[in-house]
Amino acid sequence: MKNVVVFTGAGVSAESGISTFRDHGGLWEKYKFEDVATTEAWIRQPKIVLEFYNARRKEVIQAKPNRAHELISKLQSYFNTWVITQNIDNLHERAGSKNVMHLHGEIMKSKSSINPNIIYDVKNGEIKWGDLCELGSQIRPHVVWFGEEVPLMPLALQKVSEADILIITGTSLQVYPAAGIIFNANKNCEIFLIDPGEVSTHSPIKINRIKEKAGKGMEMLFEKLKLD
Ligand code: OAD
Repeated sequence: MKNVVVFTGAGVSAESGISTFRDHGGLWEKYKFEDVATTEAWIRQPKIVLEFYNARRKEVIQAKPNRAHELISKLQSYFNTWVITQNIDNLHERAGSKNVMHLHGEIMKSKSSINPNIIYDVKNGEIKWGDLCELGSQIRPHVVWFGEEVPLMPLALQKVSEADILIITGTSLQVYPAAGIIFNANKNCEIFLIDPGEVSTHSPIKINRIKEKAGKGMEMLFEKLKLD
């Protein structure tokens, strides 16, 4: 079986009703990321940070996987497939994808604020101020904030380097180090980019562009790859 890596961003969940970050009307128009998605924000105003992620979690619980998530999951029938996502939602898993790597963490999980290896499922949909880990410290969302390390990067880079086909969808490729994984593709890798917007890649390898939303674009890719 060929190796396929699907690299996704917020746009893949847009058709499920979850906001992207940098599109018109996106989350970073409503919030300053410095106020909600950095360690400094957590130190300065933890309750506001918790509120922001509690709202994101609520959206995710209400959302359903869309056609793109479903087709991405279907790739597993044909290929050895890895989904590398920047999304913190669980829509890839809910659509049936098995090998999912969340570079920026998972909204449905929390972790200790003093030991990042102590991870819990978020019960009742919310993390409250005063919810403590077993070491007695406040728990925080299990997400990667700006300026924090991305622990899964080495594994992501390895999977991309082994890919015969790399499918990129729903990401503006503006946030590093995640966006840099494209440079790890080997020279024989076939790269497809599905996005309705203009995305600059700076990739030395030719990119096959499908200028469509993720659902329609994945359908077109299935036709192109002659999959049913
Ligand atoms: P962005 O909001 O930066 O980019 C969204 C991309 O999705 C754009 O290229 C849009 O054109 C595209 N898009 C919009 N609707 C779409 C649709 N229906 N189908 C397919 N594509 C569509 O989101 P990301 O690139 O995911 O990180 O952002 C990367 C990171 O920045 C996030 O993980 C988050 C954010 O700040 C952290 O919070 C650390």
